[in-house]
Amino acid sequence: MSAIDTIAWFVYLLAAVLFVAGLHEMNSPKTARLGNRISAFGMVLAVVMAFISLFAKGFVSTTAVIVLVVGILIGAAAGVISAKKVKMTDMPQLVSVFNTVGGGAAALVALNDILTSTEGPGNTVLVTAGLGIIIGSVTFSGSLIAAGKLQGIIPGKPMVLPAQAVWNNLVILCVLVSFVMLIIDHSHTVLWALLATLFALGYGLLFVFPIGGADMPVVISVLNACTGTAVAMSGFAIDNVALIVAGALVGAAGVTLSVLMAKAMNRPLSSVLSGGFGGDNAAVGAAGDGPDGIMRETAPDDVAVQLVYADKVIFVPGFGLAQAQAQRSLADLGELLKEHGVQVSYAIHPVAGRMPGHMNVLLAEANIPYEELVDLDDINPQFSSANVALVVGANDVTNPAARRPGTPVSGMPILDVDQAQNVVVIKRGRGKGYAGIDNELYYGDNTQMLFGDAKAELTAIIAAVKELID
Ligand code: TAP
Repeated sequence: MSAIDTIAWFVYLLAAVLFVAGLHEMNSPKTARLGNRISAFGMVLAVVMAFISLFAKGFVSTTAVIVLVVGILIGAAAGVISAKKVKMTDMPQLVSVFNTVGGGAAALVALNDILTSTEGPGNTVLVTAGLGIIIGSVTFSGSLIAAGKLQGIIPGKPMVLPAQAVWNNLVILCVLVSFVMLIIDHSHTVLWALLATLFALGYGLLFVFPIGGADMPVVISVLNACTGTAVAMSGFAIDNVALIVAGALVGAAGVTLSVLMAKAMNRPLSSVLSGGFGGDNAAVGAAGDGPDGIMRETAPDDVAVQLVYADKVIFVPGFGLAQAQAQRSLADLGELLKEHGVQVSYAIHPVAGRMPGHMNVLLAEANIPYEELVDLDDINPQFSSANVALVVGANDVTNPAARRPGTPVSGMPILDVDQAQNVVVIKRGRGKGYAGIDNELYYGDNTQMLFGDAKAELTAIIAAVKELID
């Protein structure tokens, strides 16, 4: 091993340690920003070291330097602009675009390793690079479709081909044959590598088209795991420890997150990935006739009275809060009530919203103290002692129908909002949530509905509360 290789090895190891330390800090919202910085610093170290080693070994021509610098500038500018401009509700599609780029890059690195190998790649390289090409290509095309569905460029409803399973199996067979031939037929390596890429790209399309837009967050998380695995495989192929560790961490995080999301929705991951559920913004469950009873309407002034005279209030945010961009208004209402001596907390369901941690990030953005955000298990025993539960744009995660078998949300852990003494629900109308079923909570004797946009209604409640307090 040359001196520069030894230095590079140690720097990559340090970068890997920084990735792990950064991830550890991301365990808590309080230290998550620091964790992000630590991991980003590790990544900068790894990129700079990669540059130094290329130059030290004389691998790069002037043209290559120009291409590298221009590429880094374009990539960095795209990253900074998108991170600053993209709205929280559009974050899943941004992650999907990042997966597209990550999977595509991993596939290209592996493909390049095979195409440019002068002595012919050994079997270990062929296996790892082959896997990098296949997983990276599936991720590339699959993530592109997932981003398109979430952005509404491609229809969100499940798009299933006639005899879909036959096409799936045929393409999987072609991918496997190309992979095996890549390893055993050393005289046509390039041909098999290109065929494996092509078939894997095709499988990515077949995999994601049949899955409904509303299930895309779970799919994106699975594709994120694939990106990590493809990157790790490419790392093995080009013998780069930083890529191996970073890829393995992303892969493991993606798998863990996918399983947790599926568990919190109480649906097996296999059912999400086999497609058919989750069309355009819901309307997917068996709607049935709806619960018995009537919905009772209320007005902002009445809600303000209930809140001001309460001892304990629990806010229950959901996807509608994100849609309305009403997080700051909710935070302002919380502040007002706290100043008035009311105990306020925020109930956080793990899959409220459309991506993991959606509510935590949204409320943190509005500077709501972390201690006031309470997880499902801790907040549920508290609903019975709350005078008012104010539900803002949350639907499925509060539906008592989940406690009974035979409904699309059966078994899903829910927030026990119906146990509160009084429940007020802010939503625009009688529209259903993601699961497409009526919410029995809305017909409860202790529930009142405040129909309107979350931001507008919260603004009206704030004005009424101020008047009452003054
Ligand atoms: P949903 O069940 O989707 O309900 C959101 C509600 O917000 C709707 O009923 C809608 O009613 C209302 N709304 C929309 N825009 C609004 C606005 N501007 N102002 C006021 N209300 C508005 O949301 P949830 O309770 O947060 O549950 C999340 C669902 O998504 C779960 O079923 C979960 O399984 C699923 N899901 C979540 C994830 C993750 S990781 N979070 C991933 C995949 C799927 P109106 O139209 O009547 O206003």
